[in-house]
Amino acid sequence: MAGPIPDLEERATRCARRLCAADRVLLASHIDADGLTSAAIAAKALERAGIPFETVFEKQLDADAIAAIAATDYDTVYFTDFGSGQLDIIGDHEDAGDFTPVIADHHQPATIDGDGEPSRADTEYHLNPLLFGIDGAAELSGAGASYVLARALADVADGSDAAVAADGSGVDTAPARSDNRDLAALAVVGAVGDMQASGGELHGANAKIVDEGVDAGVLETGKDLALYGKQTRPLPKLLEYATDVHIPGISNDERGALRFLDGLDLELKRDGEWRRWSGLTNEEKRTVASALVKRAVSSGVPPKKIDQLVGTAYVLSEEPVGTELRDASEFSTLLNATARYERADVGLGVCLGDRGAALERARTLLCDHRRNLSEGIDLVTREGVTEETNVQWFHAGDRIRETIVGIVAGMAMGNEGISRSKPIVAFAEKSESELKVSARGTHGLVRRGLDLSAVMSEASRAVEGDGGGHDVAAGATVPKGKETEFIERVDEIVGEQLS
Ligand code: C5P
Ligand code: C5P
Ligand code: ZN
Repeated sequence: MAGPIPDLEERATRCARRLCAADRVLLASHIDADGLTSAAIAAKALERAGIPFETVFEKQLDADAIAAIAATDYDTVYFTDFGSGQLDIIGDHEDAGDFTPVIADHHQPATIDGDGEPSRADTEYHLNPLLFGIDGAAELSGAGASYVLARALADVADGSDAAVAADGSGVDTAPARSDNRDLAALAVVGAVGDMQASGGELHGANAKIVDEGVDAGVLETGKDLALYGKQTRPLPKLLEYATDVHIPGISNDERGALRFLDGLDLELKRDGEWRRWSGLTNEEKRTVASALVKRAVSSGVPPKKIDQLVGTAYVLSEEPVGTELRDASEFSTLLNATARYERADVGLGVCLGDRGAALERARTLLCDHRRNLSEGIDLVTREGVTEETNVQWFHAGDRIRETIVGIVAGMAMGNEGISRSKPIVAFAEKSESELKVSARGTHGLVRRGLDLSAVMSEASRAVEGDGGGHDVAAGATVPKGKETEFIERVDEIVGEQLS
């Protein structure tokens, strides 16, 4: 379990003091699950501290987006889940007196990026785990950084300014609310949405946030089946769609999954409806889980894979059983279904507690999102990828939305013909003149030296584009027509990194 992280918290306090000194704040955030939860945490914290604010979302924080922000008459801009990768541009605006930036992010900072010279000295109110030796791709997300700042903001606004010790003495949520520990649940949704759980659980600074959420009574954790959809999917679908660990005769096999369940001594339907994992008793869960493991063993699934069937579940204890909101992973997918389709307002509404119109809308959007993901994955798997020496790639044109092409690329990895031993790069149409690039790797490749953030940033610059991100997942925008030149450069850099 991680202890306190003094430097990070000190920087958070500095940022919090700056926010408290502002008359009002423009809050700007990114359009994915982590960006939405980052914004929701920041919004709650600002509101509780009595600081007026307005919220905007950006698909990409490029020069134009920053210029538009600078053109507003806000003196203080609080960036969450982006900003670090654009320190140079933001810094220019700061120097010009347009606004003072406060940044809570976890992306590779522009100043310590790749092998180039730092483009600009760091800015004063910059909170990023990477500045303090914490892994921004695996140990703290944007929502996590925003949470650390929210905790500091509660202290500063409260005048106490010293860290309030969590005494762990129970589930009284009134103090949790006043010190913002209740926001830990959203921070965990953000981290899970950014795929920071590895080996079945969250680590490092994320684990510390989990502990605070448990103390505050908003989170429960425990070992459970590591399948997606435990809250909402009908049992047969839960098993059929679980493909991370392929179990012959069950995964991707509708009738097989049904036959497997039929063979267990279990009440499968109640009131004419399929039961869900979340509604089973512990005894029933054990029955299914052990039968599943037995089947996996007998059909030759390797032990390492079988271990992956169990992981830590992060449950939002205040949310109703059987809803997407109760499971951190399902919650994050629900959020991606909103903001990646230009409805960040809907996702933010859900995060802030709207269980009426916003939740209903989000669920409708989720159906479309699921369909888009499944069609996208089918497309890539059917058409296959082009193999270079060190990477594999595909061009989706306008057939996969640029805001989800990265998710599709990541999910397709490991499917027939798409290996997990090379990073995958995806192109999708962004505009008349630009392409969106998404790149995904594996933790194993990162251990061997892969840093896709550096790859995207360097290779895109070589073709007059722009990019960045994390070692394991990154992206870029490049001019149309430059695909070949770009991919050649990507292949070369990845080759150097993995040599
Ligand atoms: O912009 P942001 O940092 O929030 O996005 C990170 C992206 O990287 C997410 O889309 C997340 O799913 C992806 N990711 C991944 N595999 C990992 C870690 C992150 O695909 N192991
Ligand atoms: O869009 P995608 O999910 O592929 O993004 C992967 C990661 O790369 C995200 O963390 C995103 O913020 C980052 N990215 C970036 N610059 C871009 C595109 C993506 O830093 N031009
Ligand atoms: Zn993020």
